[in-house]
Amino acid sequence: MNATDDTRPSPAYNYAVVRQFTLMTLLWGILGMAMGVFIAAQLVWPELNFGLPWTSFGRIRPIHTNLVIFAFGGGALFATSLYVVQRTSRAALVSDGLARFVFWGWQAAIVALLVSYPLGITTSKEYAEMEWPIALWVAIVWLAYTYLFFGTIARRTVKHIYVGNWFYGAFIIVTGMVHVVNHLSVPVSLLKSYSIYSGATDAMIQWWYGHSVVGFILSVGFLGMMYYFVPKQAARPIYSYRLSIVHFWAIIALYIWAGPHHLHYTALPDWAQTLGMAMSIILLAPSWGGMINGMMTLSGAWHKLRTDPILRFLVVSLAFYGMSTFEGPMMAIKTVNALSHYTDWTIGHVHAGALGWVAMISIGTLYHMIPKLYDREQMYSVGLINTHFWLATLGSVLYIASMWVNGITQGLMWRAVNEDGTLTYSFVEALEASHPGFIVRLVGGAIFASGMLLMAWNTWMTIRSSERTAHKSVGVHA
Ligand code: HEM
Ligand code: HEM
Repeated sequence: MNATDDTRPSPAYNYAVVRQFTLMTLLWGILGMAMGVFIAAQLVWPELNFGLPWTSFGRIRPIHTNLVIFAFGGGALFATSLYVVQRTSRAALVSDGLARFVFWGWQAAIVALLVSYPLGITTSKEYAEMEWPIALWVAIVWLAYTYLFFGTIARRTVKHIYVGNWFYGAFIIVTGMVHVVNHLSVPVSLLKSYSIYSGATDAMIQWWYGHSVVGFILSVGFLGMMYYFVPKQAARPIYSYRLSIVHFWAIIALYIWAGPHHLHYTALPDWAQTLGMAMSIILLAPSWGGMINGMMTLSGAWHKLRTDPILRFLVVSLAFYGMSTFEGPMMAIKTVNALSHYTDWTIGHVHAGALGWVAMISIGTLYHMIPKLYDREQMYSVGLINTHFWLATLGSVLYIASMWVNGITQGLMWRAVNEDGTLTYSFVEALEASHPGFIVRLVGGAIFASGMLLMAWNTWMTIRSSERTAHKSVGVHA
């Protein structure tokens, strides 16, 4: 069974909410990446902190991470999951009113982050910085989204549940669960709360959550996207449906255990660290199983890559996924982590996943979806998509390579000792050695971000163009 073989006429889908999330994904993506470029520039020229608390690196950094993960990545997942669930279930969303609530509720949460973080109102937990009223609001919106997604599956008019929905479903359930557990806290005022956990337990819960953000939002959610849009764009069924089921169960069973690899050589019990390391190494297998399943979907259709820049985005994103899920398990090995931890190597790994995989698959997918949502034959300019592809690829490579060089340099300089046991280099010397890498990262990031501006222009022109699809039939093709 695949996502392309049902040709019955389809019901009237709710595309309004998909369109809204798509446009906001673009907008937040541009803003989030602009913040990334700004903090990258601050690391080159510290004067850009302007001596003000609300423009300091420490306050802008979480704005960058939250915007790109929750507003850009999250937006892409909302848009595509609500699109895919309708088309593969052959059923309209269970409630249009609820869809509107989810859209506006989510935007309100993002705006609340944008206001509170520069003011320094945060929990100080990474990726969970939002204070309790926002966290509570997010939990309510998430509950509504859960009902919207699973309620639509429940009213499906086809027997099977397409595998892409399994991945989206797991992303929704686990994200809701870890968000609530990690945010349990005692409010002491409207804007301040204290976690109910303390010490090593607090750290463990935080990284159980943190790694689940990586695993279930940035990986499993986007794999759901991959399982629908790669076959659609390649116009071929997924390589192996059976492998996709094995992939699903293996990945959800393993990811939840990998959190302790963020806490190597800390107060966390040694057995927990070793367990996290072992689970991370095993995780290589399902990650690559999924990557291969996506890649092999193109077997017999590789020639399409010559002419289809959207497919290029999707395939190159899978290559970056393969790369970062090889690198991750290696970095989870304690002896390797002793070198990589606290260095820019981690930042390079993060952006191999974030730019190469998450952003590139989202971009390819949005280019696939936008003409369909607006009833257009294709995007306004395929040439611009191609230019965007090269900007994104070049930007990612510059970013990642510079951070690898920096990371290994820093790790080696920090651990170098003289014969008498004193440190060979001061911290500032390692920082000086990192400066060229910071510049290359800034250039790479700016190149990547400029591609997003092309995308915004291309989208605007597509929406404005008067040329519509000949058959006036959005939704006929599942
Ligand atoms: C134009 C593109 C981007 C630029 C220039 C950029 C730049 C940066 C910089 C300078 C940092 C701080 C590094 C440090 O503290 O040393 C950072 C952190 C981070 N960025 Fe980006 N970024 C970009 C895109 C993205 C995207 C698209 C995502 C996610 C989908 C992302 C996710 C993250 C995360 C999760 C961190 C925190 C990493 C950690 O704590 O280990 N970034 N980024
Ligand atoms: C098999 C898959 C993966 C494994 C085993 C893995 C493992 C790791 C390890 C060991 C670290 C370094 C922890 C430290 O030293 O602090 C790390 C950091 C990170 N990884 Fe991965 N990784 C994987 C895939 C990915 C993917 C696909 C992404 C997607 C974007 C990603 C995003 C991140 C982020 C955001 C961090 C930084 C967390 C922080 O310190 O703030 N990882 N990962």
